[in-house]
Amino acid sequence: MKTVTVELGARTYPIHIEAGLLARAGEFLAPLAKGRRVAIVTDENLSVHLATLQASLTAAGIGSEAIVLAPGEGSKSWATLEMLCNRLLELGVERGDHVVALGGGVMGDLVGFACSILKRGCNFVQIPTSLLAQVDSSVGGKTAINTKAGKNLIGAFHQPVMVLIDPQVLDTLPIRELRAGYAEVVKYGLIDDFAFFEWCEANGAALLGGDIGLREYAIAHSVSAKARIVAADEHETNGIRALLNLGHTFGHALEAETGFSQALIHGEGVAAGCSLAFGFSASKGICPGQDAERVAAHWRDVGLPDGLAAAKIGASGERLVDHMRHDKKMAAGTLPFLLARGIGQTYLDKTVDLADVETFLDAQPR
Ligand code: GLY
Repeated sequence: MKTVTVELGARTYPIHIEAGLLARAGEFLAPLAKGRRVAIVTDENLSVHLATLQASLTAAGIGSEAIVLAPGEGSKSWATLEMLCNRLLELGVERGDHVVALGGGVMGDLVGFACSILKRGCNFVQIPTSLLAQVDSSVGGKTAINTKAGKNLIGAFHQPVMVLIDPQVLDTLPIRELRAGYAEVVKYGLIDDFAFFEWCEANGAALLGGDIGLREYAIAHSVSAKARIVAADEHETNGIRALLNLGHTFGHALEAETGFSQALIHGEGVAAGCSLAFGFSASKGICPGQDAERVAAHWRDVGLPDGLAAAKIGASGERLVDHMRHDKKMAAGTLPFLLARGIGQTYLDKTVDLADVETFLDAQPR
């Protein structure tokens, strides 16, 4: 088993990674539960994993109650949050108890936020079941719901006390979701780890094809990078954690253009967005053109969109930049961009002129 530690002083926590770990979760939860019943929050699509988890808890002598919610982004709402908090209160969850979030990014974000406010904060454990949640959202304590005004606008930083990652649960994940999560894996290479990007080029297709050893390695490597970044900038205040937003400003505009629908799921937006960030950097002479082409080529190799045409975005530059103006990172009329001097050399640039971005986007093939 691989264990990565997120070093946050008194709130330091472990991330355990191993194929088959879900069936052993009881061993890890028993010392935390101290004989108390555990509330598990999950979604309707995950009944097989819920059964495995509950059997493991029973074998470890721990009782559990499952709260099963509707799958999908719609559950990150005020209404579901209220219902979930009421249900957790009915179950008598105390501050010292440990609520388990079993699911993808939606469950992690919603349950984490509920736990940040329940009795002014109770413990929670993340058991992520999508690749995207395993390598990104389950680690680092960002929790949130969506409102009419936008995604993730209401939330809190609330760290889990433990993360249990079982790469084997990915076997039941649709390939499109798996690919989308893989975009976030490659992102760690693009940010500051050229050798890991080369590893992705060599192993990405086999990883997506089902190789469990490669999946375990990629998850552990990604989570180590995330743990390092979160430890250096927990609340995204000094520019380090912001590096994780590589591809997200462009990607967010594409997702907004498609109405945050199944037409372009988040990781696909990130992949296309990374291509655009590298392409824009190359167009400004900041990054070698061959690096931008190499990033796009890797997305094509693994079946992810490498730009506007592949993402089926026909909108004008003006329209896409207009979406960017509503980005929550907009500050005093300026939108910070993650640009790159090369693969593995991402940096935060607060001087980007949106008119240049518009011109660049207009020049992209549709
Ligand atoms: N997903 C970006 C972050 O955790 O900061």
